[in-house]
This record gives sequence, structure tokens and C-alpha cells, in this order.
Amino acid sequence: MIDIEKKVKEIEEKAIAEMSGAEGLDRLNEIRVAFLGKKGSLTAVLKSMKDVSPEDRPKVGKWVNDARFAIEEKMEATKQRLDALKLEKELAEEEIDVTLPGKMKFIGHRHPNTIALEEVERIFIGMGYEVIEGPEIEYDDYNFTKLNIPANHPAKDEQDTFYITKDILLRTQTSPVQARVMEKGKLPIRMISPGRVFRSDEVDATHSPSFHQIEGLVVDRNVTFADLKGTLDVFAKELFGPETKTKFRPHHFPFTEPSAEVDVSCFKCGGKGCRFCKGSGWIEILGCGMVHPHVLEMCGIDPEVYSGFAFGVGLERIALLKYEIDDMRLLYENDDRFLGQF
Ligand code: DAH
Repeated sequence: MIDIEKKVKEIEEKAIAEMSGAEGLDRLNEIRVAFLGKKGSLTAVLKSMKDVSPEDRPKVGKWVNDARFAIEEKMEATKQRLDALKLEKELAEEEIDVTLPGKMKFIGHRHPNTIALEEVERIFIGMGYEVIEGPEIEYDDYNFTKLNIPANHPAKDEQDTFYITKDILLRTQTSPVQARVMEKGKLPIRMISPGRVFRSDEVDATHSPSFHQIEGLVVDRNVTFADLKGTLDVFAKELFGPETKTKFRPHHFPFTEPSAEVDVSCFKCGGKGCRFCKGSGWIEILGCGMVHPHVLEMCGIDPEVYSGFAFGVGLERIALLKYEIDDMRLLYENDDRFLGQF
């Protein structure tokens, strides 16, 4: 009996001593298993109870319970000590010096093409136009035939087209969106359609195999050339300043009749003639005209009832003029020192 009491006391002291020296939660768990687990030393004493005489059993039970209680109490305290230690260590490792200068985040900004496009969109949205996009991969039919450019028309190779198959190509202009929108049959139409176009041109200061256009189309009853002139005059004044004058020069496009090219008075010299306008006082900015009755017809619109006008602007041309950039290649080189200026 005395032996059992001594043994229980020893187990308790040993457990408590081991916990005092424990340096991690893993070690603490090992100690718990060694003393209180199924095969633990304190559990073994309980198991040997069958050899104790029945009248002594309550005493032995009490010693074991007291020891278990003391061990559990120490275990809880040790766990708290080790948790705190662990947190302290983590905090020390993750220390941040808030007085150090922050890491610079590089934030890009809008490309001059995008800035110019947003300006053009703002102007036309202000006049009640919708912005509608069309596909870059297009049917020959939409890019040419429906725009009054028949199979053997010289304009077809003038534009040096990238063909994918005989009938499918990379669009050479945004004009096919005109046909796509008209075919939908929802009238009236007042839309612009910006997007990428492709021509197999050699790269130089004014050419690129891929560039951008903005198409415009209005179809309604009683639309006249005066509406076209008024609209593009407002556009030019908004884009280049209120002093800007416009000039409509007769031209030819297969899908408009009559057609014109539009010049704006040079916003650098006001029309007197300078290096910028090559001495002429005028700068060409776009092509336009009244939608050809045959084009309306092919798209299911009655030319006796409806008329319309269309125009096509080169986006890069606008960006180069507006920001006085003299080489188109700069727009595509992604040199941040250049792009960062706009
Ligand atoms: N698609 C023509 C081109 O790429 C530009 C153009 C001219 C569009 C006259 C038009 C237009 O809508 O009416 O050269």
C-alpha cells in the first residue's frame, strides 16, 4: 500500500518535471501519452487495482485521481506557456519594419490610341450614337461584296488582303460592320464601330499591317449630305478645337455615292501653312459619303424610304495628329518612356 502511494507520487513528480522542461507542443503530447495514455504509467496503476484489497481500493483510487488532477493542471499551464512561446517566435520572425520605404508598384496608363478612341467615342455618344463592335475575322462577302466591291473590283487587291480561306479574311476595314448592322433591320441607325483592321503593308512611319479604324453609320428617313457635313464639322471642332474648319473634297468609295474626303484646317498654324500640314494649311482626316442605294438594298433597306451617311476614320492618324507624333511605329513598340508622355 505504502509502495503504491509512493509510486503514484513519483509518477506525478516525474510528469511535472518533464513538463517543466518541455520545449514544444509535440513534446507535451508525448508526455501526456506516456503518463495518462492507455498504456501510460498512471493508467497502469489503475489497471493493477485488481490486486488491491477491496477496502483499500478507494484510497488508491483517490491517490491516482489526485495525481491525474495535478498532472492535468500542469499540462494546461504548460500548454499555455508553449502557445505563448510559439506566438512570440512567429511574431519575431514576421516582424515588419513599417519605417522602410514601400515597394513602388508600377502602374501603366492608357495608350495614346485608347485615349484618342475614348475622345472620339465621347463626341459621338454625345450626339446619340451607339458603339457597336464587329468581328476582326470576316467573310469576304461582308468585307467586299455587300459593300459594293464585286469579286473582280480593283479595290480588292488595292487593299492587299490577308486571306484565311477563299471566303474568310482578316477585315481590311471596319466598313463591314455597316452591312452587319443594317442587315439586323433595326432602324433608325446611329452607330460608330471602332476596331482593328489588317492589310499586308510593310511597316514604315505611316503604315502597319495592323491598325485601327472607327466606322460611322447613320440611316434614317430624310438623311442628307447636309447632315453628314454638319456632323463631321461638329466632330472636327470637338476633336481639334472650335476654330477648326472642314473641307469636303469629292472622292470615290464603292459603298458611298457621292463620296468625299474630309480635310481639317491645320490646328498648328490655323491654315496659314506650316511643316505640320506640309504648307497646305489642310490635313486630311477621313473618308465619307452617302450610303450607296445598292448597299442599302443588299442589306434589306428600301432606298426609296431611307437614306444614310457613313464615314471611316483612322484611329492612329487621329492619335498621331493630336499628340504630334511623327512616326506610327512608336505607337506599337511598347516603350514606356514614349507611352508615359500622354
Ligand atoms: N473603309 C474606307 C477605307 O478603309 C474608309 C471609309 C471611306 C469608310 C468612306 C466609310 C466611308 O464609311 O463612307 O479606306
